[in-house]
Amino acid sequence: MKSSIFRTTLIAAAALAMSGAAFAQAGAKLKVGLMLPYTGTFASLGNAIENGFRLYVTEQGGKLAGREVEFVKVDDESDPSKATDNVNKLVKRDNVDVLIGTVHSGVAMAMAKVAKETGTILIVPNAGADAVTGAMCAPNIFRSSFSNWQPGYAMGEVMAKKGIKKVATITWKYAAGDESVRGFKEAFEKGGGTVVKELNLPFPNVEFQALLTDIAATKPDAVFTFFAGGGAVKFVKDYAAAGLKKTIPLYGSGFLTDGTLDAQGADADGLLTALHYADGMEIPKDKSFRLAYAKTYKLQPDVYAVQGYDAAQILGIGLKAVGGDTSKKAEFAHAVEAAKIDSPRGTFSLSKAHNPVQDIYLRQVVGKENKLIGIASKALNDPGRGCKM
Ligand code: PHB
Repeated sequence: MKSSIFRTTLIAAAALAMSGAAFAQAGAKLKVGLMLPYTGTFASLGNAIENGFRLYVTEQGGKLAGREVEFVKVDDESDPSKATDNVNKLVKRDNVDVLIGTVHSGVAMAMAKVAKETGTILIVPNAGADAVTGAMCAPNIFRSSFSNWQPGYAMGEVMAKKGIKKVATITWKYAAGDESVRGFKEAFEKGGGTVVKELNLPFPNVEFQALLTDIAATKPDAVFTFFAGGGAVKFVKDYAAAGLKKTIPLYGSGFLTDGTLDAQGADADGLLTALHYADGMEIPKDKSFRLAYAKTYKLQPDVYAVQGYDAAQILGIGLKAVGGDTSKKAEFAHAVEAAKIDSPRGTFSLSKAHNPVQDIYLRQVVGKENKLIGIASKALNDPGRGCKM
């Protein structure tokens, strides 16, 4: 009994003493918990994020700050009701060093809650839930993607400037839909427009018909929408099939047409969207990223792949500053806060609340591309409402 306590104490002391570069020398692997959707309407988004993340790690020789990277994966199914159990599996059963996830805002909020309670480093590679870098912000929580407010707000500015007056909105009834519309409405109404109707359906439903009939009857000047993944493919096709595309212009946050154009075909042609990534940006980092991604995966990257790649970059920057020791949370955070992240989207840094401060591009679908046509909102900084840090 005594000797086992003694042994445990010794091991604990050794672990405490093992700081900085010692982690690398001791050969302790870095356990990265990937919690992403691999099934359901967001499955392709989860895969693209993982691809992007792995590409960066591979470019570093499979190691970050000298520690070999090992992955533990969970399919979160974009199901908030399973989210707390899923994240606890990674943190408590698998003892991951860091958490990377996820796509769905509701699932990400459950991850942020556990990260906040346990102090585990969390990097969110997509989900835009405003609270993650708002009321739930924490020194150990970072985002490599966007807040739901950002593309919505930028599109509200663009549409108001175009002189559009009356808009109907349509989206899924959950945090990402609600917050995209709220961001849109804030800028659009500030610019003199009015939201005349807000339509919703539960996530991840795709029975749009009754809502499209409502839009036809309402006759707004334009429609603003947030949909993504498989749902976005069906919405764009149904909107065109209902004959609305010709009469009521459709605008969206850029997820509507990112990673979806092969499936949407001509029904997406000409659509205008706002997002922090675009085709044809002439950024050297983007060119090299696209070449490497296409070579590795035989696929073109999309915004999700970029966000996965940048999540790995953020992790690499933080880990380098602490010599691979994830217990040094304050130093990890300071390094990331001071960093300029060399992203394929263009260089960005993080706000005080750890959300990217970034240009939101205006894009137009031309063939299979979301062609850059301008900047919708320069260096847009999410207000980080409710963040006390
Ligand atoms: C979200 O739930 O926050 C979400 C999901 C898919 C996207 C963007 C945001 O493409």
